[in-house]
Amino acid sequence: MIRKILFASVLMLGAPAAMAAACSVDIEGNDAMKFNVANIDVSKSCKDFTINLKHTGQLPKVAMGHNVVIAATADIKGIDADGIKAGAAADYVKAGDSRVIAHSKLIGGGESTSVTFPVAKLGAGPNSFFCSFPGHSALMKGTITVK
Ligand code: CU
Repeated sequence: MIRKILFASVLMLGAPAAMAAACSVDIEGNDAMKFNVANIDVSKSCKDFTINLKHTGQLPKVAMGHNVVIAATADIKGIDADGIKAGAAADYVKAGDSRVIAHSKLIGGGESTSVTFPVAKLGAGPNSFFCSFPGHSALMKGTITVK
């Protein structure tokens, strides 16, 4: 019943995107080693959250690969260091790294990927998203916050 009323009011307002909490975000990484967003807000009403990553550049992933890793901000350096040792075949993330909340695979120019994780895993934070390709997290990082 409540659902029907909500749906009806959304139709009347004609703005469903503004009414519903978006449980996903589209972000881009480029050949200049940058993400196009600095902060991601996650609605606490979302059970799961999806990050869609698009590499808008042209360079291959051996030269300018990007992924998205979600973790506590304090763990970025440690995850990064172990990810470099793990290598490209492991998407620059150590297998079974318990500090990693979620991560996507590594992609090159023109490719896309996505990662979905339970919002509950974000806990209290502060958390960040970053690229664990060697050297990239200096520029390619931002905050991810449940609100
Ligand atoms: Cu990168």
